Amino acid sequence: MKVAILGTGYVGLVTGACLADLGMHVTCVDIDKAKVALLKQGVVPIYEPGLESIVKPAVAADRLRFTTDIGEGLLGADVVFIAVGTPSDEDGSADLTYVLAAARSIGEAMNAFTVIVDKSTVPVGTAGKVNAEIAAALLRRGVTHEFAVVSNPEFLKEGSAVADFMRPDRIVLGIPPGPAGVRAREIMDRLYAPLQRNHLRTIHMDVPSAELTKYAANAMLATRISFMNELANLAGAVGADIESVRQGIGSDSRIGYHFLYAGTGYGGSCFPKDIRAICHTGLEHGMELKVIQAVEQVNRVQKEVLVRLINRRFGPDLRGRLFGLWGLAFKPNTDDMRDAPSRVIIEKLVSAGARVIAYDPVAMKEARRALATDLGEGTEMLARVSFAETPEDCVVGADALVIATEWKIFKSPDWSRLRVRLKQPVVFDGRNLFSPRLMRDEGFEYHSIGRGTPPAW
Ligand SMILES: NC(=O)c1ccc[n+]([C@@H]2O[C@H](COP(=O)([O-])OP(=O)(O)OC[C@H]3O[C@@H](n4cnc5c(N)ncnc54)[C@H](O)[C@@H]3O)[C@@H](O)[C@H]2O)c1
Repeated sequence: MKVAILGTGYVGLVTGACLADLGMHVTCVDIDKAKVALLKQGVVPIYEPGLESIVKPAVAADRLRFTTDIGEGLLGADVVFIAVGTPSDEDGSADLTYVLAAARSIGEAMNAFTVIVDKSTVPVGTAGKVNAEIAAALLRRGVTHEFAVVSNPEFLKEGSAVADFMRPDRIVLGIPPGPAGVRAREIMDRLYAPLQRNHLRTIHMDVPSAELTKYAANAMLATRISFMNELANLAGAVGADIESVRQGIGSDSRIGYHFLYAGTGYGGSCFPKDIRAICHTGLEHGMELKVIQAVEQVNRVQKEVLVRLINRRFGPDLRGRLFGLWGLAFKPNTDDMRDAPSRVIIEKLVSAGARVIAYDPVAMKEARRALATDLGEGTEMLARVSFAETPEDCVVGADALVIATEWKIFKSPDWSRLRVRLKQPVVFDGRNLFSPRLMRDEGFEYHSIGRGTPPAW
Protein backbone atom coordinates (compact mmCIF):
# COMPACT_ATOMS: atom_id res chain seq x y z
CA MET A 1 0.00 0.00 0.00
CA LYS A 2 1.23 3.52 -0.78
CA VAL A 3 0.73 6.19 1.83
CA ALA A 4 1.39 9.92 1.92
CA ILE A 5 1.60 11.90 5.14
CA LEU A 6 1.30 15.67 5.33
CA GLY A 7 3.20 17.01 8.35
CA THR A 8 6.31 15.38 9.78
CA GLY A 9 5.94 16.40 13.42
CA TYR A 10 5.54 14.08 16.39
CA VAL A 11 2.44 12.45 14.90
CA GLY A 12 3.20 12.51 11.16
CA LEU A 13 6.75 11.28 11.43
CA VAL A 14 5.88 8.51 13.87
CA THR A 15 2.93 7.42 11.71
CA GLY A 16 5.04 7.46 8.56
CA ALA A 17 7.99 5.64 10.09
CA CYS A 18 5.79 2.98 11.71
CA LEU A 19 3.81 2.29 8.53
CA ALA A 20 7.08 2.05 6.58
CA ASP A 21 8.40 -0.31 9.26
CA LEU A 22 5.31 -2.46 8.61
CA GLY A 23 6.30 -2.71 4.93
CA MET A 24 4.30 0.09 3.33
CA HIS A 25 5.71 2.70 0.99
CA VAL A 26 5.39 6.06 2.66
CA THR A 27 6.17 9.58 1.50
CA CYS A 28 6.18 12.26 4.16
CA VAL A 29 5.49 15.76 2.92
CA ASP A 30 6.29 18.87 4.92
CA ILE A 31 6.37 22.57 4.07
CA ASP A 32 9.37 23.05 6.39
CA LYS A 33 12.31 22.79 4.00
CA ALA A 34 14.95 22.63 6.74
CA LYS A 35 13.14 19.76 8.45
CA VAL A 36 12.80 17.79 5.22
CA ALA A 37 16.50 18.36 4.42
CA LEU A 38 17.47 16.93 7.81
CA LEU A 39 15.12 13.95 7.45
CA LYS A 40 16.50 13.16 4.01
CA GLN A 41 19.91 12.83 5.64
CA GLY A 42 18.42 10.43 8.18
CA VAL A 43 18.50 13.02 10.99
CA VAL A 44 15.39 12.84 13.18
CA PRO A 45 14.71 16.40 14.36
CA ILE A 46 12.71 15.41 17.47
CA TYR A 47 13.52 13.24 20.45
CA GLU A 48 11.27 10.21 20.48
CA PRO A 49 12.58 6.89 21.83
CA GLY A 50 12.90 4.19 19.15
CA LEU A 51 12.03 6.50 16.26
CA GLU A 52 15.47 6.91 14.73
CA SER A 53 16.03 3.17 14.72
CA ILE A 54 13.02 2.61 12.47
CA VAL A 55 13.46 5.73 10.32
CA LYS A 56 17.01 4.90 9.22
CA PRO A 57 16.43 1.38 7.84
CA ALA A 58 13.14 2.41 6.20
CA VAL A 59 14.91 5.30 4.43
CA ALA A 60 17.77 3.01 3.41
CA ALA A 61 15.25 0.50 1.98
CA ASP A 62 13.53 3.36 0.12
CA ARG A 63 10.21 2.64 1.82
CA LEU A 64 10.26 6.02 3.58
CA ARG A 65 10.82 9.21 1.62
CA PHE A 66 10.65 12.87 2.48
CA THR A 67 9.73 15.75 0.24
CA THR A 68 8.36 19.28 0.18
CA ASP A 69 6.62 18.53 -3.11
CA ILE A 70 3.00 17.52 -2.54
CA GLY A 71 2.67 16.26 -6.14
CA GLU A 72 5.54 13.84 -5.58
CA GLY A 73 4.09 12.80 -2.24
CA LEU A 74 0.64 12.02 -3.55
CA LEU A 75 1.78 10.10 -6.63
CA GLY A 76 -0.01 6.74 -6.49
CA ALA A 77 -0.99 7.18 -2.82
CA ASP A 78 -4.02 5.14 -1.72
CA VAL A 79 -4.23 6.97 1.59
CA VAL A 80 -3.19 10.52 2.49
CA PHE A 81 -2.91 11.46 6.16
CA ILE A 82 -3.25 15.03 7.35
CA ALA A 83 -1.03 15.27 10.45
CA VAL A 84 -0.33 18.99 10.63
CA GLY A 85 -0.56 21.16 13.72
CA THR A 86 -3.85 22.51 15.13
CA PRO A 87 -2.68 25.16 17.62
CA SER A 88 -4.98 27.31 19.73
CA ASP A 89 -6.39 30.37 18.09
CA GLU A 90 -6.68 33.55 20.16
CA ASP A 91 -10.26 32.73 21.17
CA GLY A 92 -9.29 29.20 22.27
CA SER A 93 -10.69 27.47 19.19
CA ALA A 94 -8.52 25.08 17.17
CA ASP A 95 -6.78 27.01 14.41
CA LEU A 96 -7.54 25.02 11.25
CA THR A 97 -5.36 27.11 8.92
CA TYR A 98 -2.79 24.33 8.44
CA VAL A 99 -5.38 21.57 8.09
CA LEU A 100 -7.37 23.42 5.47
CA ALA A 101 -4.22 24.46 3.57
CA ALA A 102 -3.17 20.80 3.55
CA ALA A 103 -6.64 19.81 2.28
CA ARG A 104 -6.41 22.41 -0.49
CA SER A 105 -3.01 21.13 -1.57
CA ILE A 106 -4.39 17.57 -1.67
CA GLY A 107 -7.24 18.69 -3.94
CA GLU A 108 -4.72 20.44 -6.16
CA ALA A 109 -2.51 17.35 -6.49
CA MET A 110 -4.63 14.17 -6.29
CA ASN A 111 -5.11 12.20 -9.46
CA ALA A 112 -7.21 9.17 -8.53
CA PHE A 113 -9.60 7.90 -5.85
CA THR A 114 -7.95 8.81 -2.54
CA VAL A 115 -8.75 8.27 1.10
CA ILE A 116 -7.93 11.42 3.05
CA VAL A 117 -7.43 10.82 6.75
CA ASP A 118 -7.76 13.53 9.38
CA LYS A 119 -5.18 12.46 11.96
CA SER A 120 -4.70 15.91 13.39
CA THR A 121 -6.89 16.62 16.41
CA VAL A 122 -9.72 18.64 14.96
CA PRO A 123 -13.12 19.83 16.21
CA VAL A 124 -16.33 18.17 15.14
CA GLY A 125 -17.25 19.36 11.67
CA THR A 126 -13.70 19.62 10.35
CA ALA A 127 -13.97 16.59 8.06
CA GLY A 128 -16.80 18.44 6.32
CA LYS A 129 -14.57 21.50 5.86
CA VAL A 130 -11.70 19.34 4.56
CA ASN A 131 -14.17 17.70 2.17
CA ALA A 132 -15.29 21.11 0.91
CA GLU A 133 -11.70 22.39 0.43
CA ILE A 134 -10.77 19.34 -1.63
CA ALA A 135 -13.97 19.47 -3.70
CA ALA A 136 -13.39 23.17 -4.43
CA ALA A 137 -9.79 22.55 -5.52
CA LEU A 138 -10.89 19.71 -7.81
CA LEU A 139 -13.58 21.94 -9.26
CA ARG A 140 -11.03 24.67 -9.97
CA ARG A 141 -8.95 22.09 -11.82
CA GLY A 142 -12.03 20.88 -13.71
CA VAL A 143 -11.49 17.24 -12.68
CA THR A 144 -13.81 14.83 -10.86
CA HIS A 145 -11.85 12.34 -8.76
CA GLU A 146 -13.75 10.52 -6.05
CA PHE A 147 -12.47 10.72 -2.49
CA ALA A 148 -13.51 10.09 1.10
CA VAL A 149 -12.50 11.98 4.23
CA VAL A 150 -12.03 9.65 7.20
CA SER A 151 -11.48 10.73 10.79
CA ASN A 152 -8.75 8.73 12.49
CA PRO A 153 -7.66 10.62 15.64
CA GLU A 154 -4.30 9.76 17.10
CA PHE A 155 -3.88 8.66 20.70
CA LEU A 156 -0.11 8.15 20.86
CA LYS A 157 1.80 9.62 23.77
CA GLU A 158 5.03 11.53 23.24
CA GLY A 159 7.81 9.58 24.89
CA SER A 160 6.30 6.22 23.91
CA ALA A 161 4.86 7.17 20.54
CA VAL A 162 6.38 4.34 18.50
CA ALA A 163 5.23 1.66 20.94
CA ASP A 164 1.79 3.27 21.21
CA PHE A 165 1.40 3.35 17.44
CA MET A 166 2.49 -0.27 17.04
CA ARG A 167 0.35 -1.53 19.94
CA PRO A 168 -2.60 0.85 20.11
CA ASP A 169 -5.31 0.43 22.76
CA ARG A 170 -7.76 1.16 19.96
CA ILE A 171 -7.93 2.55 16.43
CA VAL A 172 -10.86 4.90 16.02
CA LEU A 173 -12.16 5.22 12.47
CA GLY A 174 -14.88 7.70 11.64
CA ILE A 175 -16.23 6.63 8.26
CA PRO A 176 -18.37 8.90 6.08
CA PRO A 177 -21.63 7.56 4.61
CA GLY A 178 -22.04 6.49 0.99
CA PRO A 179 -20.15 4.24 -1.44
CA ALA A 180 -16.89 6.24 -1.12
CA GLY A 181 -17.08 5.67 2.64
CA VAL A 182 -17.54 1.91 2.15
CA ARG A 183 -14.48 1.86 -0.09
CA ALA A 184 -12.51 3.99 2.39
CA ARG A 185 -13.40 1.67 5.30
CA GLU A 186 -12.11 -1.34 3.39
CA ILE A 187 -8.83 0.46 2.55
CA MET A 188 -8.34 1.70 6.14
CA ASP A 189 -9.01 -1.77 7.55
CA ARG A 190 -6.38 -3.15 5.17
CA LEU A 191 -3.92 -0.43 6.20
CA TYR A 192 -4.29 -1.21 9.91
CA ALA A 193 -4.54 -5.02 9.52
CA PRO A 194 -0.91 -5.56 10.65
CA LEU A 195 -1.75 -3.98 14.03
CA GLN A 196 -4.68 -6.33 14.68
CA ARG A 197 -3.07 -9.77 14.70
CA ASN A 198 -3.62 -10.25 18.40
CA HIS A 199 -7.18 -8.92 18.54
CA LEU A 200 -9.33 -6.48 16.66
CA ARG A 201 -8.62 -2.98 17.86
CA THR A 202 -10.60 -0.88 15.39
CA ILE A 203 -13.77 0.87 16.51
CA HIS A 204 -15.76 2.07 13.51
CA MET A 205 -18.13 4.96 13.99
CA ASP A 206 -19.52 8.01 12.22
CA VAL A 207 -17.21 10.95 11.57
CA PRO A 208 -18.49 13.44 14.22
CA SER A 209 -18.28 10.75 16.93
CA ALA A 210 -14.67 9.98 15.97
CA GLU A 211 -13.75 13.67 16.01
CA LEU A 212 -15.35 14.10 19.43
CA THR A 213 -13.78 10.91 20.84
CA LYS A 214 -10.30 12.45 20.74
CA TYR A 215 -11.38 15.54 22.67
CA ALA A 216 -13.38 13.41 25.10
CA ALA A 217 -10.31 11.26 25.82
CA ASN A 218 -8.04 14.24 26.45
CA ALA A 219 -10.68 16.03 28.50
CA MET A 220 -11.14 12.94 30.69
CA LEU A 221 -7.38 12.56 31.26
CA ALA A 222 -6.91 16.25 32.01
CA THR A 223 -9.87 16.08 34.39
CA ARG A 224 -8.19 13.32 36.39
CA ILE A 225 -5.04 15.43 36.65
CA SER A 226 -6.81 18.60 37.76
CA PHE A 227 -9.02 16.59 40.13
CA MET A 228 -5.96 15.14 41.82
CA ASN A 229 -4.20 18.49 41.93
CA GLU A 230 -7.18 20.09 43.59
CA LEU A 231 -7.37 17.25 46.10
CA ALA A 232 -3.62 17.51 46.68
CA ASN A 233 -3.96 21.13 47.68
CA LEU A 234 -6.72 20.13 50.09
CA ALA A 235 -4.61 17.24 51.41
CA GLY A 236 -1.74 19.62 52.13
CA ALA A 237 -4.07 21.93 54.02
CA VAL A 238 -5.76 19.27 56.16
CA GLY A 239 -2.65 17.28 57.05
CA ALA A 240 -3.25 14.34 54.70
CA ASP A 241 -0.82 12.83 52.19
CA ILE A 242 -2.09 12.82 48.59
CA GLU A 243 0.19 9.85 47.78
CA SER A 244 -1.64 7.70 50.32
CA VAL A 245 -4.98 9.00 49.04
CA ARG A 246 -3.92 8.17 45.46
CA GLN A 247 -3.21 4.58 46.41
CA GLY A 248 -6.39 4.41 48.43
CA ILE A 249 -8.57 5.38 45.49
CA GLY A 250 -6.48 3.93 42.64
CA SER A 251 -6.95 0.45 44.09
CA ASP A 252 -10.66 0.75 43.31
CA SER A 253 -10.99 -1.04 39.97
CA ARG A 254 -13.62 1.51 38.89
CA ILE A 255 -11.04 4.26 39.31
CA GLY A 256 -7.66 2.64 38.53
CA TYR A 257 -4.19 4.07 39.05
CA HIS A 258 -3.57 5.87 35.76
CA PHE A 259 -3.33 9.65 35.60
CA LEU A 260 -3.82 10.17 39.30
CA TYR A 261 -0.53 11.87 40.09
CA ALA A 262 -0.57 15.26 41.73
CA GLY A 263 2.03 17.65 40.33
CA THR A 264 2.68 20.95 38.67
CA GLY A 265 -0.23 20.72 36.24
CA TYR A 266 -0.50 19.30 32.75
CA GLY A 267 1.29 20.82 29.78
CA GLY A 268 2.43 19.66 26.37
CA SER A 269 1.18 20.14 22.87
CA CYS A 270 -2.23 18.53 23.35
CA PHE A 271 -4.11 18.84 26.65
CA PRO A 272 -3.98 22.64 27.04
CA LYS A 273 -5.07 23.45 23.50
CA ASP A 274 -7.55 20.58 23.24
CA ILE A 275 -9.24 21.54 26.50
CA ARG A 276 -9.58 25.12 25.29
CA ALA A 277 -10.88 23.90 21.92
CA ILE A 278 -13.59 21.62 23.33
CA CYS A 279 -14.77 24.43 25.63
CA HIS A 280 -14.95 26.66 22.57
CA THR A 281 -16.96 24.04 20.67
CA GLY A 282 -19.36 23.95 23.63
CA LEU A 283 -19.79 27.73 23.55
CA GLU A 284 -20.40 27.64 19.79
CA HIS A 285 -23.35 25.39 20.57
CA GLY A 286 -24.59 27.54 23.43
CA MET A 287 -23.17 25.27 26.11
CA GLU A 288 -20.75 26.06 28.89
CA LEU A 289 -18.80 22.87 29.56
CA LYS A 290 -18.47 23.71 33.23
CA VAL A 291 -16.49 20.66 34.35
CA ILE A 292 -13.95 21.03 31.55
CA GLN A 293 -13.65 24.79 32.04
CA ALA A 294 -12.85 24.17 35.70
CA VAL A 295 -10.21 21.63 34.67
CA GLU A 296 -8.37 24.38 32.82
CA GLN A 297 -8.76 26.93 35.61
CA VAL A 298 -7.37 24.50 38.18
CA ASN A 299 -4.48 23.70 35.87
CA ARG A 300 -3.56 27.33 35.31
CA VAL A 301 -3.27 27.87 39.05
CA GLN A 302 -1.47 24.56 39.58
CA LYS A 303 1.36 25.48 37.22
CA GLU A 304 2.38 28.06 39.82
CA VAL A 305 2.19 25.69 42.79
CA LEU A 306 5.97 25.33 43.13
CA VAL A 307 6.47 29.07 42.92
CA ARG A 308 3.91 29.54 45.72
CA LEU A 309 5.82 27.05 47.88
CA ILE A 310 9.08 28.84 47.06
CA ASN A 311 7.58 32.22 47.91
CA ARG A 312 6.25 30.86 51.18
CA ARG A 313 9.78 29.70 52.07
CA PHE A 314 11.89 32.55 50.67
CA GLY A 315 9.41 35.44 50.39
CA PRO A 316 8.16 37.21 47.26
CA ASP A 317 11.43 39.02 46.55
CA LEU A 318 13.84 36.44 45.14
CA ARG A 319 16.66 38.83 44.19
CA GLY A 320 20.01 37.23 44.97
CA ARG A 321 18.50 33.72 45.07
CA LEU A 322 19.68 30.93 42.82
CA PHE A 323 17.59 27.86 41.99
CA GLY A 324 18.73 24.63 40.35
CA LEU A 325 15.91 23.29 38.16
CA TRP A 326 15.69 19.62 37.21
CA GLY A 327 13.53 18.97 34.16
CA LEU A 328 12.33 21.28 31.42
CA ALA A 329 10.29 19.11 29.06
CA PHE A 330 6.58 18.92 29.87
CA LYS A 331 7.05 15.25 30.70
CA PRO A 332 9.88 12.69 30.61
CA ASN A 333 11.17 11.07 27.41
CA THR A 334 10.42 14.01 25.15
CA ASP A 335 12.06 17.28 24.19
CA ASP A 336 8.66 18.93 23.72
CA MET A 337 8.51 22.27 25.55
CA ARG A 338 5.04 23.30 24.39
CA ASP A 339 3.09 24.61 27.41
CA ALA A 340 5.61 22.96 29.78
CA PRO A 341 5.07 23.92 33.45
CA SER A 342 8.83 24.61 33.68
CA ARG A 343 8.30 27.68 31.50
CA VAL A 344 5.86 29.17 34.00
CA ILE A 345 8.16 28.31 36.91
CA ILE A 346 11.20 29.91 35.24
CA GLU A 347 9.26 32.97 34.17
CA LYS A 348 7.93 33.54 37.70
CA LEU A 349 11.29 32.95 39.39
CA VAL A 350 13.29 35.28 37.15
CA SER A 351 10.51 37.92 37.30
CA ALA A 352 10.94 37.90 41.06
CA GLY A 353 14.66 38.53 40.61
CA ALA A 354 16.06 34.99 40.98
CA ARG A 355 18.58 33.23 38.78
CA VAL A 356 17.92 29.71 37.51
CA ILE A 357 20.33 27.00 36.38
CA ALA A 358 18.44 24.28 34.54
CA TYR A 359 19.20 20.74 33.48
CA ASP A 360 17.19 18.39 31.25
CA PRO A 361 18.49 15.20 29.62
CA VAL A 362 17.16 16.11 26.15
CA ALA A 363 15.10 19.31 26.12
CA MET A 364 17.74 22.01 26.71
CA LYS A 365 18.00 22.97 23.04
CA GLU A 366 14.23 23.31 22.72
CA ALA A 367 14.11 25.10 26.08
CA ARG A 368 16.59 27.75 24.93
CA ARG A 369 14.29 28.50 22.01
CA ALA A 370 11.12 28.51 24.12
CA LEU A 371 12.60 30.69 26.85
CA ALA A 372 13.89 33.21 24.33
CA THR A 373 10.27 33.55 23.18
CA ASP A 374 8.88 33.77 26.74
CA LEU A 375 11.47 36.10 28.25
CA GLY A 376 12.64 37.97 25.17
CA GLU A 377 15.86 37.52 23.21
CA GLY A 378 18.75 39.50 24.75
CA THR A 379 16.79 40.54 27.86
CA GLU A 380 18.05 40.70 31.42
CA MET A 381 15.42 38.12 32.40
CA LEU A 382 16.76 35.62 29.85
CA ALA A 383 20.31 36.30 31.03
CA ARG A 384 19.27 35.04 34.47
CA VAL A 385 18.68 31.55 33.06
CA SER A 386 21.59 29.24 32.31
CA PHE A 387 22.01 25.53 31.68
CA ALA A 388 24.15 22.87 33.32
CA GLU A 389 25.82 19.80 31.85
CA THR A 390 24.75 17.46 34.64
CA PRO A 391 22.07 17.34 37.36
CA GLU A 392 24.75 17.83 40.01
CA ASP A 393 26.34 20.86 38.30
CA CYS A 394 22.88 22.35 38.23
CA VAL A 395 22.65 22.82 42.00
CA VAL A 396 26.10 24.23 42.80
CA GLY A 397 25.63 27.22 45.12
CA ALA A 398 21.83 27.07 44.75
CA ASP A 399 19.41 28.06 47.49
CA ALA A 400 17.25 25.11 46.56
CA LEU A 401 16.70 22.33 44.05
CA VAL A 402 13.40 22.53 42.15
CA ILE A 403 12.09 19.43 40.33
CA ALA A 404 9.70 20.02 37.45
CA THR A 405 9.86 16.81 35.34
CA GLU A 406 10.08 13.23 36.57
CA TRP A 407 12.92 11.97 34.38
CA LYS A 408 14.22 8.56 35.53
CA ILE A 409 17.70 9.97 36.09
CA PHE A 410 16.31 12.21 38.88
CA LYS A 411 14.72 9.38 40.82
CA SER A 412 17.68 8.11 42.77
CA PRO A 413 20.19 10.91 43.30
CA ASP A 414 23.29 10.79 45.45
CA TRP A 415 21.95 12.94 48.27
CA SER A 416 25.29 13.47 49.98
CA ARG A 417 26.81 14.90 46.79
CA LEU A 418 23.82 17.18 46.35
CA ARG A 419 23.94 18.32 49.96
CA VAL A 420 27.51 19.60 49.62
CA ARG A 421 26.77 21.36 46.34
CA LEU A 422 23.62 23.16 47.44
CA LYS A 423 23.98 26.31 49.53
CA GLN A 424 21.28 24.90 51.79
CA PRO A 425 19.62 21.47 51.64
CA VAL A 426 16.19 22.52 50.38
CA VAL A 427 14.18 20.67 47.72
CA PHE A 428 10.92 21.70 46.04
CA ASP A 429 9.57 18.60 44.31
CA GLY A 430 6.78 19.18 41.81
CA ARG A 431 6.49 15.46 41.07
CA ASN A 432 6.46 13.88 44.53
CA LEU A 433 9.40 11.65 43.62
CA PHE A 434 10.55 11.01 47.19
CA SER A 435 9.10 10.10 50.52
CA PRO A 436 9.10 13.00 53.00
CA ARG A 437 10.51 10.64 55.60
CA LEU A 438 13.50 9.66 53.43
CA MET A 439 14.21 13.30 52.74
CA ARG A 440 14.09 14.13 56.43
CA ASP A 441 16.50 11.26 57.14
CA GLU A 442 18.82 12.56 54.40
CA GLY A 443 18.83 15.95 56.09
CA PHE A 444 16.77 17.86 53.54
CA GLU A 445 14.03 20.37 53.99
CA TYR A 446 11.52 18.89 51.55
CA HIS A 447 8.53 20.62 49.99
CA SER A 448 6.29 18.52 47.74
CA ILE A 449 2.71 18.57 46.46
CA GLY A 450 -0.19 17.78 48.74
CA ARG A 451 1.66 16.10 51.56
CA GLY A 452 0.54 17.71 54.75
CA THR A 453 1.80 16.90 58.21
CA PRO A 454 -0.70 14.85 60.20
CA PRO A 455 -1.60 16.45 63.52
CA ALA A 456 0.17 14.93 66.55
CA TRP A 457 -2.37 13.68 69.04
N1 LIG B 1 2.14 15.52 19.67
C1 LIG B 1 1.33 14.61 20.18
O1 LIG B 1 1.63 13.93 21.13
C2 LIG B 1 -0.03 14.38 19.56
C3 LIG B 1 -0.77 13.25 19.92
C4 LIG B 1 -2.02 13.05 19.34
C5 LIG B 1 -2.52 13.97 18.42
N2 LIG B 1 -1.78 15.07 18.11
C6 LIG B 1 -2.32 16.00 17.12
O2 LIG B 1 -1.67 15.75 15.88
C7 LIG B 1 -1.49 16.98 15.15
C8 LIG B 1 -0.02 17.19 14.84
O3 LIG B 1 0.67 17.33 16.07
P1 LIG B 1 2.27 17.33 16.12
O4 LIG B 1 2.63 17.41 17.56
O5 LIG B 1 2.78 16.19 15.31
O6 LIG B 1 2.57 18.70 15.36
P2 LIG B 1 3.98 19.35 14.99
O7 LIG B 1 3.81 20.79 15.18
O8 LIG B 1 5.07 18.61 15.69
O9 LIG B 1 4.13 19.04 13.43
C9 LIG B 1 3.29 19.56 12.44
C10 LIG B 1 4.07 19.57 11.13
O10 LIG B 1 3.17 19.89 10.06
C11 LIG B 1 3.88 20.67 9.10
N3 LIG B 1 2.93 21.33 8.20
C12 LIG B 1 2.16 22.43 8.42
N4 LIG B 1 1.39 22.69 7.35
C13 LIG B 1 1.67 21.74 6.42
C14 LIG B 1 1.20 21.48 5.10
N5 LIG B 1 0.26 22.24 4.51
N6 LIG B 1 1.71 20.42 4.42
C15 LIG B 1 2.65 19.64 5.00
N7 LIG B 1 3.14 19.85 6.25
C16 LIG B 1 2.65 20.88 6.95
C17 LIG B 1 4.72 21.58 9.96
O11 LIG B 1 5.80 22.14 9.23
C18 LIG B 1 5.18 20.61 11.06
O12 LIG B 1 6.40 19.97 10.72
C19 LIG B 1 -2.11 18.07 16.03
O13 LIG B 1 -3.44 18.27 15.65
C20 LIG B 1 -2.06 17.46 17.41
O14 LIG B 1 -3.05 17.97 18.27
C21 LIG B 1 -0.54 15.28 18.63
